[in-house]
Amino acid sequence: MPAPKKIFIKTFGCQMNVYDSERMSEALAQQGFAEAAAMEEADVVILNTCHIREKAAEKVYSDLGRIRQVKTQRQEAGKETIVTVAGCVAQAEGAEIVRRAPVVDVVVGPQSYHRLGELLGRAGNGTRAIVDTGFPEEDKFGRLPARLSNGAVAAFLTVQEGCDKFCTFCVVPYTRGAEFSRPVKDVEAEARRLAAQGVREITLLGQNVNAYHGQGPDGRTWSLARLIDRLAAIDGIERLRYTTSHPRDMTDDLIAAHRDQPKLMPYLHLPFQAGSDRILAAMNRKHTASEYLALVDRIRAGCESLALSTDIIVGFPGETEEEFAATLDIVGKVGFAQAYSFKYSPRPGTPAAGIDGQVPDRVKTERLHRLQDLLDQQQTAFNSACVGEVMPILFERKGRRAGQLIGRSPYLQAVHAQADSSFLGQILKVEIVGAGPNSLSGALAEAVPRVPA
Ligand code: 5AD
Ligand code: SF4
Repeated sequence: MPAPKKIFIKTFGCQMNVYDSERMSEALAQQGFAEAAAMEEADVVILNTCHIREKAAEKVYSDLGRIRQVKTQRQEAGKETIVTVAGCVAQAEGAEIVRRAPVVDVVVGPQSYHRLGELLGRAGNGTRAIVDTGFPEEDKFGRLPARLSNGAVAAFLTVQEGCDKFCTFCVVPYTRGAEFSRPVKDVEAEARRLAAQGVREITLLGQNVNAYHGQGPDGRTWSLARLIDRLAAIDGIERLRYTTSHPRDMTDDLIAAHRDQPKLMPYLHLPFQAGSDRILAAMNRKHTASEYLALVDRIRAGCESLALSTDIIVGFPGETEEEFAATLDIVGKVGFAQAYSFKYSPRPGTPAAGIDGQVPDRVKTERLHRLQDLLDQQQTAFNSACVGEVMPILFERKGRRAGQLIGRSPYLQAVHAQADSSFLGQILKVEIVGAGPNSLSGALAEAVPRVPA
């Protein structure tokens, strides 16, 4: 029997790309591919790319330069390598990628992953590069093989893809297309499979996940809150999360779910992007600063323990010092447990890239530093305030030290504790005894029966 072909996938960008890479890897495993430990050993290299900021997109080309050397070395040893670019750069740049990097054999957009096996079969052996970046009629999720878990206790599950919001800075509506929600029964079937394989926590993914409007089993359109209740009823699923949300789609039933659904974690990623109403309007965010603050108040009124994280952009075209100060003001008023902040990066084809008054890079850098100082202080303060609390921790993996496990708190903080490895996959009460900027340490707070040997 010939040795199985080996595949190596490198993933950039967001959690949806992580999910997509897992699905590609599962689909190819069913077609007989094995995972390669290193790129040098791979017959097929896939870069699953991100186009959200220029830096992420350019990284792909520097990687392709290195891959060209690997491909040449393998060729000299008589081995073929099929180089594939998948993800959002593939979708946005298509055939241009092959022009810039002729080493590429296949370009495949996120809507065509169910066709990947067939594309790889046709590629290589000196054939011309294949570019598949259409938005096909067929539903890729329905055509990918049933989901397998990789043994992890926490998993991502894409329930919604694409975006109709058209924020003026963002490529997502172009790379991931119009909003699409998977039917409830498909999501539920995937969640049940994950639960049966030992998954305890599921994060529902979508570029605009709280705009979820999938077909329910009753033929009607279901909201994200209804979907969450349905999944919470699955035996074995102990925790649910969702990301990323738009403030305009935080409906009353979803806010109520944070109060009423105990399996929904008290943690919400809710980007606000900027604090000035003029900038928010220029971003086409469809909310003002005070509307965002009022929304946060309403959510917290229902669920006092809820913590927030967010995304923020500094240096959007035309942003003045005063307008930037309005961003700091929102951060000060909300108090975030965690946040991602970025320098505005003009993206080809998006409306904001053409706005006059692009902010110089040194000004963006300086604003980003000031913002991140404040966010770091808030994160450290949030973590420190956890010391002395007893929290339910889902143990996910072994730590570096002997006898140590690493788990997650309800607020997604990494928590280290001395615990027997038989507790992997369990949720146990842990007293938090120490806090750093990025993680917590704790001690098991309940007498837990040891699993008999
Ligand atoms: N420049 C900088 N940051 C961006 N984001 C999206 N587009 C851009 C851009 N052009 C940020 C937003 C979004 C997160 C995923 O990335 O904050 O919420
Ligand atoms: Fe990047 Fe957006 Fe594509 Fe995710 S969906 S990989 S964040 S461009």
